[in-house]
Amino acid sequence: MADDLRIITGNKAEQYQSLIPQIRGLLEGETDLVANLANTAAALKEQFGWLWVGFYVVKKTFGPVQDELVVGPFQGPVACTRIKKGRGVCGTSWAEAKTIIVPDVEKFPGHIACSSLSRSEIVVPVIRNNEVVAVLDADSEKLDQFDLIDQRYLEEIVNLIQF
Ligand code: SME
Repeated sequence: MADDLRIITGNKAEQYQSLIPQIRGLLEGETDLVANLANTAAALKEQFGWLWVGFYVVKKTFGPVQDELVVGPFQGPVACTRIKKGRGVCGTSWAEAKTIIVPDVEKFPGHIACSSLSRSEIVVPVIRNNEVVAVLDADSEKLDQFDLIDQRYLEEIVNLIQF
């Protein structure tokens, strides 16, 4: 059984620095992807208390149907199930294979509002063998919640997960 997460106060970088070894511990020796995505989302939610945090996973299809992102393990209100490449913040992060920070979702053309409470957002792609296999999405009720510190540490966290 996993031990309780140790939640700390302190600045953002300190919070990530305390959390990352704990996430590493949760993932250690576990190869099940759903379990690892679920515990990573839960750990982030517990430490930061964001409105929504979780994963969308690229689902491969065959034939004329395009690949899509499908919602995976997350914490927060129910969310859109499928997102096409290039759509919304998640689909744009997937298409461009880069992290996107949105300080004000109302100013991001095409933002997909899964919750009317969301005001700002960060989406980090998970890249394996030069391909985006999933994205990590975090949403906040506060404007301008996410910055380059979140980007740096969230990119480190997604790289801990074995896909
Ligand atoms: N806002 C995202 C959709 C996912 S939800 O926020 C959980 C987007 O624009 O892609």
